[in-house]
Order: sequence, then C-alpha cells, then structure tokens
Amino acid sequence: MIKQHSSTLVNEMTLDEKIAQLIQLATHFYKGATEEGQITGPIEEMGITGDTVQNSGSVLGASGAKTTKSIQKAHLNDNRLGIPLLFMSDIIHGYKTIFPVPLAMGCSWDLELAEKSAEIAAKEAAVSGVHVTFSPMVDLTRDPRWGRVMESTGEDPFLNSEFAKALVRGYQGEDYTKDNDRVAACVKHFAAYGAPEGGRDYNTVDMSERQLREYYLPAYKAALDEGCAMVMTAFNILDGVPATGNKRLMRDLLREEWGFDGVVISDWGAVKELIHHGYAEDEKDAAQKGLKAGVDIEMMTPCYVHHLKTLVEEGSISESLIDEAVLRILELKEKLGLFENPYRAADEEREKEIVFSESHRKAARELAAKSSVLLKNEGVLPLDREQKVALIGPFAEHDDLLGPWSWIGSREDAVKVREGFESKIDSRQLSSAKGSDISAVTSSQINEARRSAENADVIVLALGEESDMSGEAGSRADIRLPEAQLKLVEEMSKLNKPMVAVLFNGRPLDLHGVVDKVDAVLEAWFPGSEAGSAVADLLYGDANPSGRLTMSFPYSVGQVPVYYNRYNTGRPQKKGVQERFVSQYLDIPNEPLFPFGFGLSYTTFSYSDVTLSSSVIKPEQPLHLTVNVTNTGEVAGDEVVQLYVRDITGEVVRPLRELKGFKKIWLEPGETKEVAFTLTEEQLRYYHSDLSHESDAGKFNLYIGANSRDAAEYAFELIK
Ligand code: GLC
Repeated sequence: MIKQHSSTLVNEMTLDEKIAQLIQLATHFYKGATEEGQITGPIEEMGITGDTVQNSGSVLGASGAKTTKSIQKAHLNDNRLGIPLLFMSDIIHGYKTIFPVPLAMGCSWDLELAEKSAEIAAKEAAVSGVHVTFSPMVDLTRDPRWGRVMESTGEDPFLNSEFAKALVRGYQGEDYTKDNDRVAACVKHFAAYGAPEGGRDYNTVDMSERQLREYYLPAYKAALDEGCAMVMTAFNILDGVPATGNKRLMRDLLREEWGFDGVVISDWGAVKELIHHGYAEDEKDAAQKGLKAGVDIEMMTPCYVHHLKTLVEEGSISESLIDEAVLRILELKEKLGLFENPYRAADEEREKEIVFSESHRKAARELAAKSSVLLKNEGVLPLDREQKVALIGPFAEHDDLLGPWSWIGSREDAVKVREGFESKIDSRQLSSAKGSDISAVTSSQINEARRSAENADVIVLALGEESDMSGEAGSRADIRLPEAQLKLVEEMSKLNKPMVAVLFNGRPLDLHGVVDKVDAVLEAWFPGSEAGSAVADLLYGDANPSGRLTMSFPYSVGQVPVYYNRYNTGRPQKKGVQERFVSQYLDIPNEPLFPFGFGLSYTTFSYSDVTLSSSVIKPEQPLHLTVNVTNTGEVAGDEVVQLYVRDITGEVVRPLRELKGFKKIWLEPGETKEVAFTLTEEQLRYYHSDLSHESDAGKFNLYIGANSRDAAEYAFELIK
C-alpha cells in the first residue's frame, strides 16, 4: 500500500517538486513559524526561492503543537500536490522533561529506564508536532577531549548497542506507524564521528575497516536492526573520503550489505562541506557526490536544489536516483500517517497535560539518581540530616544543569542543587556560597566561601563545566576542572573539614586537584530537570548510588585515548615491577584514574560460588555461568554484575577484556541472589584480517565482577 501510493505520487511530481523534497530547512523559512514567515537573514544568500520552500520536504527544529500546525497548514495551502512536511528535531535526552545526558544515562546500565526516558521524550515531542528525532547518537568514543562524548553512551560497542536498541524501542515503540505517541528515530552520526584525531570536533577520522567494524559500526547496526527509521551522516572523513560523500559506506555497506532502505539525511551543511574537505570542486560537484553516495535529504545547504536539475538535464545523474530518494521520503510520510492526518499527534490541549508532567519529572529524577557515579567515599556519605552543611561552588545555585542538546528544557525550571538540599534539611542547617565562578575566582569569593563554611560539619562542593564546554564544537585540550575551581577546592581543603565534591560535567575529567583533596566524589554529569532533587536523594541516602562508568576517567589527558578494551602490546607492564623497556610512561601510570564499569555504592557486595556449566564451549553448546552476589553491607542497593571475556590468542590481537553481559540487580542488606549468564560461540566472533567475522577455537578467560578491573578470572576453551 505505502509503496503504491508514494510511487504514484512521485510520478505526478515535476522534477523541481521532487528535488525540493530533498532539502531540509530550519523553521524560520516557513510561514507560520514567525510573523513574517518569509526567508530571512543569511539564508537569502543561499538563493533559496519561495518555490523551493513551498515544495520542500521537511523542517528542521520546529516544535510546539501550535507552531507546527500553523506551518503545516500554510505549507499545504501552497503545495500543489498537498504533500505534507516532515518535522524533525534534536530530542536527544528529553523534549521539555530533560533526562540526564546520554553519557550519564549509559552509566545507569538500566536499559528499561533508558527506554522509558525515550518513550516519554517521544510522547512529549509527538504531541508537540515532532515526527522524527535525530537520536540515538551512538558514536563510540574513547577521547574525553571531544565535546560530544556527553551525547554517546561511551567506549564499549556491546553496551552502546544495547542502549541504541533501548532508545529506538522507546522512541518508536512496537510500531510508530500505528502509535501517534511515538516518533521515528534517526541514528547518528554515520560513521565513526566519535574518533576524531586529537578529540577535536569535525577532525579527521582514520582507522582500518577492521577497527571500524569491530568497534564503531555495531551500535549503528543494532539501532537499524531494531527498526530505526533514519540515518544521519557524519561530518568527518573516513579513510580519506567524507562520510557524507562516501558511496562505499552508504550504498555498499548501509544499503547493500545491511539492507537499510530508509531515509538518509546529511548532518547540517555536510553536503556543501565536501568542498571544504577538498572532495568536491563546487556545489554542483558536491550535489552529485552527495546524491550518488546515498544522501537523500540535504540539511540546510542548497547544493541539491541549485544543481540536481542541471545534473539530470546534462545526463550526469539519472533522474531515477532522485526518484529513489523522494520515494523513501514519501514512504516515511506515509508510515507516519501524514497523508491521512498531516497534523498527526499535534494537539495544544493534550500538550498542556503531557509535556513536563509530574510523572515525567519523576522518571527523570529516578534516572538522574541511577546515572550518577560515586567515585570516592571515605566515610562522609550519605550525609546525616542533623549535620550543618556548607554548599559551596559555582553549581550551588547554578541553573546550567540540563547539559547540551536539551531542546526546550527550561534551565529556570530545573531543580537547583540548593533547592535539593532545602527539600531535605532545615534552611538553618544550610549555608551556601558560590566560592568561584566557573572559570574565574576572586579573593572575596573565597573569603565568602570560608565564612559560609565556618560552622559547617561538612562541605559539599558543587563544581563542574558549563554545558557549552562540551557538546558540539566543545572540545577541550585540558580536561581538568577550570583553575578557578581547583583553587577553590585547595582553599576549602585548608579548613580541614569533611568535604564532598559533586561534579556537573559532560565528559570524563582529569580529577587531579579534586579527588586527592576531598573525601568523596559524586559524578552527577548533567542530570537534567530534576538535578537538585536527584543529587540530594543520593547525598542523603534516599537513593543509593548505582552508576557505573561507561567511559574511562583518564589519569591525565596525556593518557588519552585510554579505554578498557585495549590490546596487551608485546611489552606489557608487569604489575608492581619497575623496568624500563616496556610500554609505559615515565611520569604517569598506564591505568586510568577510574576504569570502565567502576562505581561505588553505600553498601558492599561480595561474589561467590561461581559455577561454569563446562570448561568448554562449542558452537552448539553455550557455556552457562552462575554467580552468587551478596549485599554484605547495611543498606539496600543495586549492583551491576559484569561479564567480560578475553580471547587469549587470535588471528589478530585481541583485547584484554570485552564486555559480553551485565545484569543490574537490587539486593536488600544480607540478601544473596544467583545471577546467571549464557556465553555463546557467536559472542566470541570477531573481525579477522580478511574481515571475515568468526570465532577461533582456543583458550579464553572469562571475568565476572564489579567492573573491568576488579573481576575474578576463569578459564574456558572454545572447541570447533
Ligand atoms: C548538528 C549536529 C547533529 C544535529 C544537527 C541538526 O550540527 O551535528 O547531531 O542533529 O546539526 O541540529
């Protein structure tokens, strides 16, 4: 049905109308978006005509039931064939109810809650007229200098794949073509955008195809296997060819090998950037290369609308390529039901009930608490409600708690850290002072902080990065806290009082100057709309920290890239042995400050009675493993039981650890639960030098425990 209607429609369209479907313009182009509704500002230089606008296929960044309905209505009045617009926006970790940034969400290891957050985001977005979200972003990353690590779920391909699937399920539900409370998802940025040299955004990415397939591609594939509707191309080059003009990546791999037949959209301006890359001579060449490589929609640049018609007329490209792209776009509109109801779920009345509702905020509070990671705690947390607290630092009352890509989340509405404390203790027990700005400090600020802490039993430092110090184009070469805040920590440490640091940041930081000066560190990331409530819940023990790092915290930026699934090298350091000619630094350790999978709790857990069904795995005989996990402490809490393997010898070298399974379990004090895992031959497959993806018979170790470093080792063998 869908193909038939859309293909009929394509045949009725003029070439100009077809080409206009292939451009995506921002909201201010469209009538109904603003009073003028006309093309304004720098965009005029793009030479986008009114005809193009009234025939264009989709809108970037419009949301709000009233706005989207008025744009759609005005558009349908002008559009000869009544082809509705698609509305696409960046709903990355919430629409107005903002959840923790995805790097934080990943640290929850809670796939259900992540899915729930995407379902809520979809519901708020859909009722506000959004049809497609440019999420999940699944770019694997090993370099915290890169600002967009906050948008990823970290350094592991298996975990990133699990979260990619969970988010697609949340956005799209069982069937978004039948459920108007869902939106279509768009996985990005294809491919390997998370591996820019030097951690500098948009920079060169260069790696073997084997590395690409082993680490960087799995999460995109997982999203598409879960039914993700769209793909967005990346800004970077890959093996010398820009991803957005890369035929091998899109037509050969994405469409041929993976069988993806949905819509591919370029990232903002990436088609025209083929010129800057030195891959296209001019806009016309860029248009030809982009379309031939497989980009259906050109976001925010006019190469397609300016040159595709000429390219067809001169025989440089076949009109069938354009028809294919248009057909995919119309099919997506069909799937979303836009031909029957171009306003889909947009509804001003429902919008008021659904958006930022109490239940949504409650879910955000729960996920924020589960996403925070307790990195250090030497006897100071949880706080006692009787204590007098000095809340010191630029984030004590700061509203920058939502993080980058927080759509229409309101910073004013976010629960501030001080408000969180006020909900737990009497205001007479609480003093607070800024102590410093984010990146500047004065002696009077320090003095005010000292005075504020004078009578306190405990000092809670609220420190971190502004949200624009990470996110897109937010790369930092120095990943410590700003000097001003390190000075504040130093000055407060001279008071010799118990100190807790709570961190609000979008990347793993070099925590020297903090972790060595305080008694406890809680990594809160950008927790979202319920930041202050979640932080207070954790600090007072109403929630027990259960986050586990999904990206290593480096000892220093000099270690970067540092990641847990690394290779051994031919000269590995021997634990505790000082020798020169091994793979090491003269001035810092090889190990990260905090490893992948690490996180503390207010209780403790023990692992015992590991049983393996066999010491041998065969293709038809998986290995079943059980382990007893006991809460050996005084309070209930979650433990994330992690299963890793190591392939001792491979046709190519194999990493020291690979995450193959995890289970987050709740244990009451003294409670023991048996946790079971199954390990199959399929999970031991890897990309060989000839790119075949298979397992090899041989010896393996498996590791079961609390993180990638602290886990018990067992041996098994694969027989084929
Ligand atoms: C930005 C981002 C991309 C986003 C797009 C639309 O440049 O790279 O992630 O979806 O533009 O806002």
